Amino acid sequence: MRLLVTGGAGFIGANFVHATVRDHPEDRVTVLDALTYAGSRESLAPVENDIRLVHGDITDRDLVVQLVGESDAVVHFAAETHVDNALAQPEPFLRTNVIGTFTVLEAVRSHGVRLHHVSTDEVYGELALDSPRRFTESTPYNPSSPYASTKAAADMLVRAWVRSYGVRATISNCSNNYGPYQHVEKFIPRQITNVLTGRRPKLYGSGANVRDWIHVDDHNNAVRRILTDGQIGRTYLIGAEGERDNLSVLRTILRLMGRDTDDFDHVTDRAGHDLRYAIDPSPLYDELLWAPKHTDLNEGLRETIDWYRANESWWAPMKDVVEAGYAERGQ
Ligand code: NAD
Ligand code: TYD
Repeated sequence: MRLLVTGGAGFIGANFVHATVRDHPEDRVTVLDALTYAGSRESLAPVENDIRLVHGDITDRDLVVQLVGESDAVVHFAAETHVDNALAQPEPFLRTNVIGTFTVLEAVRSHGVRLHHVSTDEVYGELALDSPRRFTESTPYNPSSPYASTKAAADMLVRAWVRSYGVRATISNCSNNYGPYQHVEKFIPRQITNVLTGRRPKLYGSGANVRDWIHVDDHNNAVRRILTDGQIGRTYLIGAEGERDNLSVLRTILRLMGRDTDDFDHVTDRAGHDLRYAIDPSPLYDELLWAPKHTDLNEGLRETIDWYRANESWWAPMKDVVEAGYAERGQ
């Protein structure tokens, strides 16, 4: 398969490319990535001789049409992804997540190429902390943040292009990922690298907010399964039944790193902070016979901490800039 991977120099996309090169050496991979602050060539260094990296923007119509025309399938990861950045400056989220997805859709439409669109469970909004409910494919969209609303808009475009133009697309909405190559602005790597640089971890509000954690390799395995076996037009929810509140995750990180579990700061809460996300992944288990492999979050966190310890040269150049930005916002 000739695969075009948008956003393949970011966290999840780079892990997807690594897994593809390892598990599907018969595939030919082209990455299209704008190499924004969130993408880096270094994340693809281990596979640089096995793939083609095109430095370009998904809103560049001519480039996208050309690259899609050379592909059998597109896996579309490229996005602006950080909620706190979206709150501070939403415009790039509109451009990349909405116009960018529109550009990809028009290109796959003109060439009749298969598309898998990668989205998030944040499009569904929040669940109550004490509710037995989890998100399903039929949960109404109710996005809270500028990030989530632009991802929701992108998902709606994909659905409309399937229905109106017969585009062969699937969508997945996944819960919070963790693992190697995640940008240090995000919760888990931020706290690990805070400890590694002698800073105190920072918890928003009381830390009662719940996220449903999944290892990035499990997410990518599910994406691959949907790409090959998924039903065109369907939305699949990807999750690994890893619900945990932020305070517990932070305390686990501190314990695994040999620190006192109270050795952190409470900082200003995020505006509009969603209380809880949780995915019901049963259709993925029952219909596509997928199951996560990394089911022990503590073990996954231990491995992730080891990765950040061993790869300081990858994250150190961005750490001070990220922390300066957070400090300006009181976080
Ligand atoms: P990331 O921010 O780490 O990487 C995004 C990548 O997209 C970067 O390499 C960046 O350079 C690239 N990019 C941004 N704008 C671009 C543009 N205009 N043109 C081309 N490339 C551009 O993001 P991630 O965490 O790897 O997320 C990947 C996808 O998965 C996103 O669509 C996100 O919404 C979705 N997702 C993420 C999570 C999570 O927990 N991180 C969970 C569910 C879904
Ligand atoms: P994040 O990694 O930004 O993912 P998302 O907001 O998309 O779920 O944050 C995960 C959770 O951690 C979220 O509830 C906000 C919280 N958080 C902190 O408590 N401290 C931090 O420094 C960050 C970045 C996030």
